[in-house]
Amino acid sequence: MDNTDIALRAEGICFAYRDKEWVLRDISLSIPRGKATMIMGPSGSGKTTLMKVLAGILDPQRGRVEVLNHEIGKRTRRSLYSLIGYIPQQLGLVRNLTSLENVLMGALGRCGHGRVMLGLFPHHEIEQAQAALDLMGISDKSSEKVFRLSGGQRQRVAIARTLLQRPRVVLADEFVSDLDLDLASEILRLMRQVAEREQMTFIANMHEPQLVREFADQVLLLDHGELVRGLPRHGLQGQPSAEVFQ
Ligand SMILES: Nc1ncnc2c1ncn2[C@@H]1O[C@H](COP(=O)(O)OP(=O)(O)OP(=O)(O)O)[C@@H](O)[C@H]1O
Ligand SMILES: [Mg+2]
Repeated sequence: MDNTDIALRAEGICFAYRDKEWVLRDISLSIPRGKATMIMGPSGSGKTTLMKVLAGILDPQRGRVEVLNHEIGKRTRRSLYSLIGYIPQQLGLVRNLTSLENVLMGALGRCGHGRVMLGLFPHHEIEQAQAALDLMGISDKSSEKVFRLSGGQRQRVAIARTLLQRPRVVLADEFVSDLDLDLASEILRLMRQVAEREQMTFIANMHEPQLVREFADQVLLLDHGELVRGLPRHGLQGQPSAEVFQ
C-alpha cells in the first residue's frame, strides 16, 4: 500500500502497565485510509489498551505509531489530537451537561477552551451539533442532561460529539455496545456514509460478529496482546470480512 493510502501505522508496539507484564506484544498493523477496521478479541486481550496506544493516550514502551504519516510523539501529540476522534469505552461524557452541550465539546478545538458555556459557541456550531444529534436520532433529547439518558442514547451523544470534531481518524472503543442490533446497524450505516463522504478512517473495537461481517473492510483479531489474524500481510486486506468467521 502507498503511504497516502494508510491512515495509521503501528510497528512493533509493546505495552505494559506494570514492569514487563506485557499487555501488548509486538503489534504491527496498517489501517487503510477511509475504510472501517474492526478489532475483535476476548475480554482482557488488550483491545482498549491498543486503542489508547493508537490514539496517543498511552505511550508504548517499544515501537512507534504513525497517524496520517506523522509519528505520535511529544511534539506532534497536540496537533494530532484534533485529527483523532477517540470514543472511550466509558464514553467520557459530562453527566451534568445536556446532550447538546456535550456534543459541542467536539467543537472546542475550533472555538477555544474558554467557551464551555453554551451561549459562547458560534451559532453555526450549535446548528451543526443539533444536526449531529438529529443524525443519531436523538434531537428530542438535546436539552436533556446526560445522566437522565439511557446507555444507548448516551452512546449516540458520544458519537455525535466525535462527528462534530470532524476528525480524520475515529477510534471507538466498543462503539455500539449499548444499542440493540438494529439500531447499532443503522448507526454504523450512517457512520459509513459520513466516513465515505469525508474520507474519514474508522477503527472500532467490536464484539458483535454480525456487525463486523456487515461493516468491516478489515478485521484484526487480538488474543493475549498479540495480533493473531488480520494483518494485511496475511491477505485479509480488502477482502470480505466474512472470511474471518468461517
Ligand atoms: N490501568 C490498568 N492498570 C493495570 N492493568 C490494566 C489496566 N488497564 C487494563 N489492564 C490490564 O490489561 C489487560 C488488557 O486490558 P484491556 O482493557 O486492554 O482489555 P480489553 O480487551 O479491552 O477487554 P474488554 O473486552 O473487557 O474491554 C487486562 O489484563 C487488564 O487487567
Ligand atoms: Mg476494553
